[in-house]
Amino acid sequence: MQATKSMPQPSERTQVAMEAARCAGKILLEGYHSHLEIKQKSSPLDLVTQYDEMAEACVIETIAKHFPHDSFLGEEGGIQQRDDNEAIWIIDALDGTLNFTRQIPAFCVSLSFIQGGAIQLGVIHIPMTGDIYVAEKGMGAYVNEYQIRCSTIDDLERAIVSVGVHQLVEPRTNRFIGHMTEIIQSGASLRRSGSASIDLAYVAAGKIESYAEPNLYGWDFAAGLILIKEAGGRATFLDTEQMDIFRQQTVILSNSNLHDKLLYTFKEGTTYEYH
Ligand code: IPD
Ligand code: CA
Ligand code: CA
Repeated sequence: MQATKSMPQPSERTQVAMEAARCAGKILLEGYHSHLEIKQKSSPLDLVTQYDEMAEACVIETIAKHFPHDSFLGEEGGIQQRDDNEAIWIIDALDGTLNFTRQIPAFCVSLSFIQGGAIQLGVIHIPMTGDIYVAEKGMGAYVNEYQIRCSTIDDLERAIVSVGVHQLVEPRTNRFIGHMTEIIQSGASLRRSGSASIDLAYVAAGKIESYAEPNLYGWDFAAGLILIKEAGGRATFLDTEQMDIFRQQTVILSNSNLHDKLLYTFKEGTTYEYH
């Protein structure tokens, strides 16, 4: 958790991603105490507000000004294919919408850029604290320009494990809930913050040891995944042979020392570790 080294000069795409994240963060801060127009999506607790949409629009506008050929996948607007389908931005302009609608301050902006099937960069910005987490492939992971590393804790008795569980109950979620019981019985401290991306940033920063969720979308995990990898952690997808940003997947992300123990607990069919 010790902040040490300053961030090297990031690429132009990373700089633009930081600018876009701050633009969205400003909109979310304006919306936090304002009147919200809340619409229900797939279930009574799956919501969208006008600020999700305004923040996403601001992200796309900021990036498109600099990179007009790149494509976009936004949680609210879906896919926007431009000239270059291989260069795609994944956007969750408000991760933690349910918290936001209840004025619970755990929400963030989460952006990543994928090219050639690999996550090239990730930015997670928490407007309420002003923190900005940044990682670029091969460059390390940083918060507010100071390098971060995953923790080295190697036993569940000393671990904080955060989870997300989708509202819809189906076999995969039910099995996952069973595994959560085992995690609690192992002595770990179990959390559910309501913002997957904040938790992933916290794994990268060594504040907590792991995040796991069944049915997680690409826009929820991509930025956090590159942060964790660049901070020395590991990420494994369960029940699949590949990472797929267009489909919901079960993902276990953690520091390196705990990863095998967690995989043993959450064991499911085929697994794919992201490298
Ligand atoms: C949700 C949050 C939640 C996670 C859900 C996500 P949203 O994102 O990250 O913590 O458990 O799977 O969908 O809808 O607030 O952007
Ligand atoms: Ca989300
Ligand atoms: Ca969202």
